[in-house]
Amino acid sequence: MRITWLAAAAAAALCCVDAAASAGGQGQCKFRAVFNFGDSNSDTGGFWAAFPAQQAPFGMTYFRRPAGRASDGRLVIDFLVQAMGLPLLSPYLQSVGSDYRRGANFATLASTALQPNTSLFVTGTSPFFLGVQLNQMKELRTKALRSNGNNAQLPAPDVLSNSLYTIDIGQNDLTSNLGSQSIETVKQSLPSVVSQITSTVQELYSIGARNIMVFNMAPIGCYPAFLTKLPHTSNDMDGFGCMKTYNSAVTYYNELLNTSLAEVRKKLQDASIVYANKHAVTLELFRHPKAHGLKYGTKACCGYGDGAYNFNPDVYCGSSKVLNGQTTSAKACADPQNYVSWDGIHGTEAANKIIASSLMSGSYSYPPFDLSKLCKLQPIA
Ligand SMILES: *[C@@H]1O[C@H](CO)[C@@H](O)[C@H](O)[C@H]1NC(C)=O
Ligand SMILES: *[C@@H]1O[C@H](CO)[C@@H](O)[C@H](O)[C@H]1NC(C)=O
Repeated sequence: MRITWLAAAAAAALCCVDAAASAGGQGQCKFRAVFNFGDSNSDTGGFWAAFPAQQAPFGMTYFRRPAGRASDGRLVIDFLVQAMGLPLLSPYLQSVGSDYRRGANFATLASTALQPNTSLFVTGTSPFFLGVQLNQMKELRTKALRSNGNNAQLPAPDVLSNSLYTIDIGQNDLTSNLGSQSIETVKQSLPSVVSQITSTVQELYSIGARNIMVFNMAPIGCYPAFLTKLPHTSNDMDGFGCMKTYNSAVTYYNELLNTSLAEVRKKLQDASIVYANKHAVTLELFRHPKAHGLKYGTKACCGYGDGAYNFNPDVYCGSSKVLNGQTTSAKACADPQNYVSWDGIHGTEAANKIIASSLMSGSYSYPPFDLSKLCKLQPIA
């Protein structure tokens, strides 16, 4: 499988004269803002605004300080908004320095789609599950409509209806129960996760969203953290060093999501509802990192451990712990640009950039969503 890189700026400029013109005064992009819902894969600082503070070496590559993201740099959502010429998304939970005129981010680390039956302080699950994030969007919208363009932090009413709404959640619904439940049991809960997401799509539609992109789930059976932590037999390993059972649960979830979105699409005919196949790109990176300019697939950059995965659940990236009388620390590698996995769970800036570029090309989405035809894409530095 070939990964399509972000088109050169020149090509993007040629293709977009019409789209730019039809975008009116803005001139650059069909979408005036992005509103995102999700978990750590797209949290741009929400969780760490609520529960400060994030530690180094997170953010080391791009921001050069912890920037609330579970990566060494930018996330897929950061690359998307930058390519669209929009500012990085302010977390809804960030009370200092936020600007929501071009979008907002409701995602928080450790969020689930379903309402959790536990607490952050018991099992580490974020209280800001998808239902809360949707309520936050509704609250922001109410305030934006009321202020009618006269508030320096809020989007104008016409921006809300000309925005891209993105949803990237569900992974924690699958993984957070894997310690206590078998994969077969967890699989039984996945249809309700999917229906939570599709009902959120319909709720967003009911408040005016017409462009909604839903990300599928990445192959967690290739994550260094799960390869280290989850029980599996050597028979369960595929030819690329990933676990078949967990990856097939992800495939089951993704197919269900794709089918359910097709049903929603039939009901909401004047909306563009896109299934973004992040899974295909991420799996390709884990399987063939070298084909895409990287070196390591299933080995984490930031971690501790002498094993092949460089991951120890007791000494997570950025933390220290006394093990067998010795202080051990999980530090970053010197070359995160060569890794797919940053901390064993989340992608590096390098991987996120490839994933974002591929998704923007349209060929990893159903129906095809070629962002360069909708926006004059900005070259990504
Ligand atoms: C929480 O408990 C309720 C009632 O037992 C159940 O229906 C729901 O699926 C549970 N949620 C999760 C995330 O497990
Ligand atoms: C998603 O579903 C559509 C039909 O609705 C199908 O054409 C497409 O191949 C599916 N995509 C994936 C990645 O399974």
